[in-house]
Amino acid sequence: MSPKLPGNQRQVLLRRYPEGVPETTDFELAEGPVPQPANGEFLSRTLYLSLDPYLRGVISGRHLYAEQVRPGGVMPGRTVAQVVESRHPDFAPGDIAVCSNGWQEYGLSAGAIDLRKLDPEAAPVSTGIGILGMPGLTAWAGLLHLGEPMPGETVLVSAACGPVGSMVGQLARIAGCQAVGIAGGAEKCSIVKDEFGFAECVDYKTGDLGEKLKAACPGGIDVYFDNVGGEVLAAAMANLAQGARVVLCGMMSGYNNAGPPPPGPSLIPLIMARAILRGLVVYDHEDKQKDFLRACTRWLQEGRIRYREDIAHGIDKAPEAFCRLMRGKNVGKALVRFA
Ligand SMILES: NC(=O)c1ccc[n+]([C@@H]2O[C@H](COP(=O)([O-])OP(=O)(O)OC[C@H]3O[C@@H](n4cnc5c(N)ncnc54)[C@H](OP(=O)(O)O)[C@@H]3O)[C@@H](O)[C@H]2O)c1
Repeated sequence: MSPKLPGNQRQVLLRRYPEGVPETTDFELAEGPVPQPANGEFLSRTLYLSLDPYLRGVISGRHLYAEQVRPGGVMPGRTVAQVVESRHPDFAPGDIAVCSNGWQEYGLSAGAIDLRKLDPEAAPVSTGIGILGMPGLTAWAGLLHLGEPMPGETVLVSAACGPVGSMVGQLARIAGCQAVGIAGGAEKCSIVKDEFGFAECVDYKTGDLGEKLKAACPGGIDVYFDNVGGEVLAAAMANLAQGARVVLCGMMSGYNNAGPPPPGPSLIPLIMARAILRGLVVYDHEDKQKDFLRACTRWLQEGRIRYREDIAHGIDKAPEAFCRLMRGKNVGKALVRFA
């Protein structure tokens, strides 16, 4: 262990399983040892922690791919971190990488899967877990490969102010489509239009969403990229154009619910619109990573793509920031910047 490294580190543990929307008291700050890398591993210091909606499913044991976190366990999560000690052949001290340190100041990484070195000259490193990371790839693969947008078509996306939704709209615009967003509240809607360049954004928290969508998408919705499910999905499905494609990406409106899901929307409008409903799992699209990064890094550098981050400062703010995310209070990609 290098003498510069502390023996202990701060960590955030799950204290108990949340009931419904998580509370800060469901988490606790603790101290744990800084581990030492074995052969084939590196130790890195967390620079940025990604807070993502899927973590709610990891906590409740409903995530398909990630193991459930138990009370007393360190909260998991993707991170951008700087290598401080390495016994890994491909990573040297100073390198900055996307890895999975979780909600703690230091973590060990091994192998190759899930690890990606970042070039700080190419883009701000925080984007490695935002629009140039998993959320960006989700938007890229879901819209371009499943939604198959054609120039002139109308693409509607919910949670349009978040990293997935904002990227979907911007990629739709670049593909020559009319991008329409759905977001909660006037502030988010104006960001979606003014910063992300959507043609229109509908606030689902006031008025009749179905009527508002009809007005915003007079020719019908050609591609609906759904991030929330529930009533928003039902309203969008009632306004589909002929031959529409619906990409089911996320069900944010139900993640905090315990028990069986509420009765779903009628599927009849899908049949009437001859629509195609496609499920998306980002991990199926790792082979598109190079194309995605090549194009989007350039568009980011050229200012054709923008992003917004909602950054909390300090590991001790991670629980509060996660609870804000799960209440939909984040404005942009939720991150924690460590000291
Ligand atoms: N399929 C995949 O492989 C994959 C991969 C990545 C992400 N996803 C999904 O993509 C969606 C967007 O992810 P993101 O990282 O970009 O998140 P995000 O947009 O930063 O945060 C989620 C947003 O959901 C909206 N929301 C709608 N109903 C809500 C409710 N009842 N409670 C709380 N929030 C609600 C909120 O925005 P408004 O206030 O604007 O409604 C909130 O800010 C999520 O559903 C996520 O699970 C799926």
